Amino acid sequence: MARVALVTGGSRGIGAAISKALKGKGCTVAATYAGNDEAAAKFTEETGIKTYKWNAADYDASKAGIAQVEADLGPIDIVVANAGITRDAPFHKMTPEQWKEVIDTNLTGVFNTVHPIWPGMRERKFGRVVVISSINGQKGQFGQVNYAATKAGDLGIVKSLAQEGARFGITANAVCPGYIATEMVMAVPEKVRESIIAGIPAGRLGEPEEIARCVAFLVDDEAGFVNGSTISANGAQFFV
Ligand code: CAA
Repeated sequence: MARVALVTGGSRGIGAAISKALKGKGCTVAATYAGNDEAAAKFTEETGIKTYKWNAADYDASKAGIAQVEADLGPIDIVVANAGITRDAPFHKMTPEQWKEVIDTNLTGVFNTVHPIWPGMRERKFGRVVVISSINGQKGQFGQVNYAATKAGDLGIVKSLAQEGARFGITANAVCPGYIATEMVMAVPEKVRESIIAGIPAGRLGEPEEIARCVAFLVDDEAGFVNGSTISANGAQFFV
């Protein structure tokens, strides 16, 4: 039976590559997006993947959206919490708003996305949870106190969920992408970006598909003993 997969932030960047990879694996995929209607419509047109609009930072909206996805497609077997934002600034310039926005989306957003799906996974004795963390949750990053805090927190979430879900056939794992060729990385000032790339032994940015392949592995029915782990895909930029 085809698995049903939900990918937050699944119509652009790394999320779009994940949505496509899961469809390619035979899953029925729902991709969420927060605001860019045009990109979402184009994505659906190109891929046939259904998109749903809600803000992952909003618990009630997430719960209602997930109920709609399950009414349309069936119970969700696979959830990929990918939606994330940056509000980079050196700490002395970081505003409480920049802190809160990033926490609400990247950290609380994971709670909001997984929590409504979790009881059904427990009942059905199967689930695959993947959270897209970041190299910068592992090593920290100048200008990203807020983002690094959320991405490190995401690793704590999966390690805890893994322990709670294991006896119900649920796995929870993280992928830590390094610097990937997406709009998010392209928004970094060019000079800063060049110096970052110079520090990547692979000598290049990663491709979204290289992250999607990690997710496709983790969500496989046969990957049930891989639980609470972190896959780093960063071109040898950083080792845990
Ligand atoms: N290490 C040490 N010093 C650094 C530095 C670094 N990595 N980056 C900047 N600086 C220094 C500059 O040299 C400069 O020093 P001087 O004042 O002595 O000249 C100073 O910090 C810059 O300070 P400013 O007050 O001018 O900083 P700013 O307000 O312009 O903000 C910034 C700078 C927004 C943090 C900018 O450096 C930046 O965007 N950095 C990139 C942060 C980054 O890597 N973001 C990742 C985005 S992609 C992503 O998040 C995806 C993922 O998961 C990997």
